[in-house]
This record gives sequence, C-alpha cells and structure tokens, in this order.
Amino acid sequence: MRVFLRFLPAFLLPLALATGSTLIDDVLAALNNAVDCTSCHALLVPLKALAHVGDTAFVDLFTETCIQSGAEDPDVCQGIISAEGPIIAHDLRQISPAGQTATKLCDALFGLCEPPPVNLFRVQLPPAHPVPRLPRSTGKKPFQVVHMSDVHIDREYTVGADANCTKNICCRIFADSPQNPGEPAGPNGNPRCDSPPSLADSMLQAVANLDGGVKFSIFTGDVVEGLARVLPLPARRLIKTIFVSCVCGKYTGATWLVDKPEVMADLRAFDAQLLARLPQPVFPAIGNHDSAPVNSFPRDSTNATLDSQWVFDVQSEGWAPWLDSVATRQVKHVSGSYSALVPGTRLRIISINTQYWYKQNFWLYDSDTPQPDPKGLLAFLARELHFTEIAGQRAWIIGHIPLGKEDITEDQSNYYDQIVQRFQHTIAGQFFGHSHKDQFEIAYSDFEDQAAFNAVSVGLIAPALTPTSGNPAFKVYDVDPDTYEIMDVRVMFTNITEPSFQTSPVWKEYYSARGTYGPLVGLHPQEPLSPAFWHNLTEVFAANDTAFQLFNTFLSRGGAVSICDSNCRNVSICDMRALRSENNCDHPAAGAPFRKRSASRGRAFARDFVECSGPNIGHIFFRLTASY
Ligand SMILES: *[C@@H]1O[C@H](CO)[C@@H](O)[C@H](O)[C@H]1NC(C)=O
Ligand SMILES: *[C@@H]1O[C@H](CO)[C@@H](O)[C@H](O)[C@H]1NC(C)=O
Ligand SMILES: *[C@@H]1O[C@H](CO)[C@@H](O)[C@H](O)[C@H]1NC(C)=O
Ligand SMILES: *[C@@H]1O[C@H](CO)[C@@H](O)[C@H](O)[C@H]1NC(C)=O
Ligand SMILES: *[C@@H]1O[C@H](CO)[C@@H](O)[C@H](O)[C@H]1NC(C)=O
Ligand SMILES: *[C@@H]1O[C@H](CO)[C@@H](O)[C@H](O)[C@H]1NC(C)=O
Repeated sequence: MRVFLRFLPAFLLPLALATGSTLIDDVLAALNNAVDCTSCHALLVPLKALAHVGDTAFVDLFTETCIQSGAEDPDVCQGIISAEGPIIAHDLRQISPAGQTATKLCDALFGLCEPPPVNLFRVQLPPAHPVPRLPRSTGKKPFQVVHMSDVHIDREYTVGADANCTKNICCRIFADSPQNPGEPAGPNGNPRCDSPPSLADSMLQAVANLDGGVKFSIFTGDVVEGLARVLPLPARRLIKTIFVSCVCGKYTGATWLVDKPEVMADLRAFDAQLLARLPQPVFPAIGNHDSAPVNSFPRDSTNATLDSQWVFDVQSEGWAPWLDSVATRQVKHVSGSYSALVPGTRLRIISINTQYWYKQNFWLYDSDTPQPDPKGLLAFLARELHFTEIAGQRAWIIGHIPLGKEDITEDQSNYYDQIVQRFQHTIAGQFFGHSHKDQFEIAYSDFEDQAAFNAVSVGLIAPALTPTSGNPAFKVYDVDPDTYEIMDVRVMFTNITEPSFQTSPVWKEYYSARGTYGPLVGLHPQEPLSPAFWHNLTEVFAANDTAFQLFNTFLSRGGAVSICDSNCRNVSICDMRALRSENNCDHPAAGAPFRKRSASRGRAFARDFVECSGPNIGHIFFRLTASY
C-alpha cells in the first residue's frame, strides 16, 4: 500500500527532490511492515537507499520519525540518532540488504532476526602438546585480590537534584529541573542514578582497608555513567506521513548525552582516583561505556577520525602506573588490550577489549565478508596464552563482557572458546563484569555433555558499584599462591536502604561462596572453587529451589530481587552452563509461532539489553517497527 506525504517538511525537501519523495514513503511503509526477519531484510532496502542519499538525510528522517512516533523524548531522539545514525548509514552503504551481515544487523538493531548459525572458522593455534606440568598447591596461605566492575560514575551528579526525572540520567541539574524535587539525590547515591564520585571513594577506602591486605585489584570496565533508569516503554504511534515542519536543531540541549570530552575526563578522573586511593596495583579492562558514542569501537581504523584510538591513548597513559612498558604500549597498539605479569608472581593478566565482539557495537556490521577476528584480538589472546604456557606461567583473562551472554556475537564467542579449550590448563581464571550481577558461566570440553568432568573453565562475573542494579558491591578472591586458583569468593557490599548509607556507607561481607555453597556441593577443604565445583553447584540449583533462590537474591546483593519461577530457573541454569553464547537459553522457546517469537524476543531485547548497553539507537529503532 502506498503512503502519501501530505505535507513535506522543509528539511526533507532536498531529499524528496533527489528521490522523487517515494523513498520517504517507502521507509515509513517498510517500518510499518517490519514484524519479522523477512520484513526486516525488506526494510533494509529503502534504508540503504536513504543512507546513499547521505548521513544528514538518514539522521533527519529518523529523528523526525522517532519524535513523531513518540518512541522517545525529542531531545533523546535527536541526541542518540545524530550520534549513532551515521554508523548505521555507514554499515548500510557497505552491505547487501539480503546478506548474512544484514541478518545480524536485524538481530542487533531491531531484535527481528535470530542470529545465523556460527560461521565455521578455525583459530590458528599452536599444536596441542602434552598437558603442561602444572604448579601444585602446597597449601600456602591464600592472598587476596579484589574484583571491581561497572562503577558508572556520574561526575555531574548533584546532591539535591531530582532523582525521579524523566530523562535517561537523573540526579543532575537540567534547565527544566524542578526547584523542589519530590525525591532529591542524597550525598552517596540513589537507586535511580549512577554513582556519585563519593560512592566510588567509599568503595576504594573499603578496599584499601580490607583485613589482611590485597595483593592487587582487577577492574573489568565501565567507568562512565550509562543509563540511570530504564524508562517505561511508550505505546507505539503509527507514522504514515511526516507532517510537521522541521524541528531539527531545536533539541540541542541533550546534556545527558555522553560525548568524547566527557568520556576522556571521566576515564582520567577514575584512573587518578584508583591511583590515589589504592596502594596496590590495579589491572583494568575497557568497557562498552568507555567510548563515545556508547558501545562505539570502529572495526576498521583506516579512517583515523572514526577510530577509538583516543580511548586507548588515554588509558595507555592512565594505566601506566600499574603496567610494565610492554603492556603500556600494547594498550595503545592492541586496541586497549594488554598482557602483564603480576610482579612477584608467575601469574599473567591478559586484559581483552571485548567490545569488538559486542552485538551493540554497530561498527561491526559494515562488511558482507565475514570478519572472524576484528582488530586481531583473538590472535593476540592465543599468542599471549602460548607465551604463558611456554614460560610455565598461568593466566587470568579479564574483560568486560562475559562470553556467554546473548549480546556477544556468536561467531567470536565460538572462536574464543576454541582458544579456551586449547589453553584450558594455562588459564587459571576468567573475570568479567557488564551484567551488574553476581554470576558465573562455565565452559565445557563438550557443551553437549555438560558434566563436572567436562567443565574446563569458569568465568566469574563481578557485581556493579552503581546502585541502579542493586546494592553496590565488589568481590574479594582468596587465591592459592602456587596455582592462582580461586579458593573463595567473598562479596562485600553496602546497603543503600540503611540510613547510614547517606552519611558514611558501611561495607561488610555479604556472603562467601565457599561458606554458603561449599557444604551444598560437599566441597573438600583443600579443593579450589574449580569449574567442576561450579558445575556441581548448578546441579544443586536444579535439584534444590531453596538454594537457587539464595543465588537469585545474591544476584543483586538483595537490592533488586526479581521473582524467578521454575521456567526462569531453568533458563538461568542453562545460562550458567554457557560460557559460549550459542549455548545460552536467552532465545525464545523453539516452536512458538514465529511472529510471536520475534515480538517477545524484541520486547526482551528492548527491556534487558538497555540496562547494559545504555539507551542507544537499537532500542529506538526497534520501537519504530510494527513488531513493537
Ligand atoms: C516519581 O515520578 C513518578 C512519575 O512522575 C511519580 O508518580 C512518583 O510519585 C514519583 N516518586 C517520588 C518519590 O517522587
Ligand atoms: C572519515 O570519516 C569522517 C566522518 O564521518 C568523514 O567526514 C571523512 O570524509 C572520512 N574520511 C575518509 C578518508 O574516508
Ligand atoms: C562434582 O560431582 C562429581 C559427581 O558427583 C564428583 O565426582 C566430583 O568430585 C564433584 N566435584 C567437586 C569439585 O565438587
Ligand atoms: C537446599 O538448600 C538449602 C539452602 O541452602 C539448604 O538449607 C538445604 O539443606 C538444602 N536441601 C537439601 C536437600 O540439600
Ligand atoms: C538492607 O537494609 C534494609 C533496611 O535496614 C533491610 O531491610 C535489608 O534486609 C538489608 N539488606 C541486606 C541485603 O542486608
Ligand atoms: C525445568 O527443567 C527440568 C529438568 O530439566 C524439567 O523437568 C522441567 O519441566 C523444567 N521446567 C520448566 C518450567 O520448563
């Protein structure tokens, strides 16, 4: 059905003259028809044509559609689409609307396609050699390592500002802020807002004061404030014509939009804060919020103006106090990744920038030719693990996004797993953040046969500091000084509903994994919390709902507990057994009618992913399609 434009806004006139105006109609009609994967591919045809008209036409038309459909507040529409629209336009100009990359874009941007099956690819690995002679535990006293993540510090947090605003980031003063807000921001934080700097100081103080001392800390990324709140989804208004005059430029006051100068300042400020507060070294990793626009890490750096090199330059400098000169250079030249031996140990920390494997990094969709190893980070990881193996050392891999999540590209997760399998004896631990939850994910030598004897590695996921996802927390590991295996995980937290929180937050132990879970699994006193231990714990969770509900409460440190019924429990357990994203159960149940499936998938997409990815163009684009 043809949709006619009755009134043509001035800003679209050049576009209409260039294309005979039918292109605008075609885009609107295709959005109104987009309900599943096939119609999403069809939608990309007019979108590609629009992208060829130019970035400005692409951004203007989508901004107008976003505003008129009520998908977001006008300033949010304009801010996000002007920052991220050109990335999507760039992709569309390079790819075929019918190809596999288009399917992946329809998955990531609109939630309308299932990811295609993994493209087979063999990572180049050194030939497997006999199991290396591993260090044996001599039962020495463990040392302690602190794991922090997702601090999301808002340096414009203002005490007394409105914590219950209608913007994506609250607890800041905006031009239209009320004089006497109903819910003023407290001195140390609010569950609707990201962390004030004082909350980070309080945590770092608690780390510095830990009994027994800390050998070093790891920090798995997300320095910069993200989304303070997931706003309720508005009802979709069908757009058939664009019929007001141009509002472009009217909503330039998008002060909540995080830009490059702000990210640079935030990264530097937190590096300085870590250095000032913690006497021991910190080994950090880069998070998806540590760039601008959010999640944006261009794959192809031939165009220097589009590169994230500035992030790596800032961190190469900011992390230099803790890294040796080789690692410092790697941060700069290996896209924010590095490999560094912890002084006085035989433990190597390999920090990987996982954002090149992140579905919401929209730079990844700009080629029809599969790109198995964007930026060569898989090759870097394999090479560093090989050096570690040859040197008889052990390695910890640290990174922001755990490899089992739905928002990790399935291809790269599969290739990463090949590396984990090959170097399973060298890898003594894997550590991530991003979900804001206290979780773990297991890798198996055979994912079809998930059993204790097949469990080869485990990724431990740290809770967040930001109070938006529960009580602020960090993890303390007891580490065997011979094997570098984890003997215990203790979660330390501060309770945001205690009155003392706003005056002087009290940090205390929430639970110990060994103390709470050890007896349920029958763990022997000398044994580490091995991959087999974590697998056996999933079996306990499957058999004992009381034990599982404990885990479910621990996820948010008791601060934002959601009900998890037996279906949800099955999905959670399946996800615990998937440090390879093709094996997780975040997909809708097979067998549901496709339309229903894609719609529910889309809604889950809009709701869940925003929490980790921040408000971005993906959740706006999804709201413009008919499936929403
Ligand atoms: C927060 O805002 C909502 C919507 O404006 C309102 O209904 C609610 O009462 C507010 N809460 C507080 C504590 O002010
Ligand atoms: C690099 O990207 C910028 C920003 O999109 C663009 O203006 C410029 O023309 C590009 N340069 C090259 C050489 O492609
Ligand atoms: C896990 O369970 C298996 C089978 O019950 C048992 O043989 C093994 O010792 C357990 N391992 C750990 C670490 O609990
Ligand atoms: C189930 O878990 C609860 C809570 O950890 C524990 O108290 C109880 O003994 C467990 N039940 C069985 C049968 O193991
Ligand atoms: C936090 O404090 C509140 C209020 O004192 C209390 O009800 C709640 O149980 C505490 N949460 C935890 C996890 O200790
Ligand atoms: C959960 O998994 C168990 C064991 O696999 C199965 O018996 C049960 O039916 C599942 N429950 C739901 C609600 O799917």
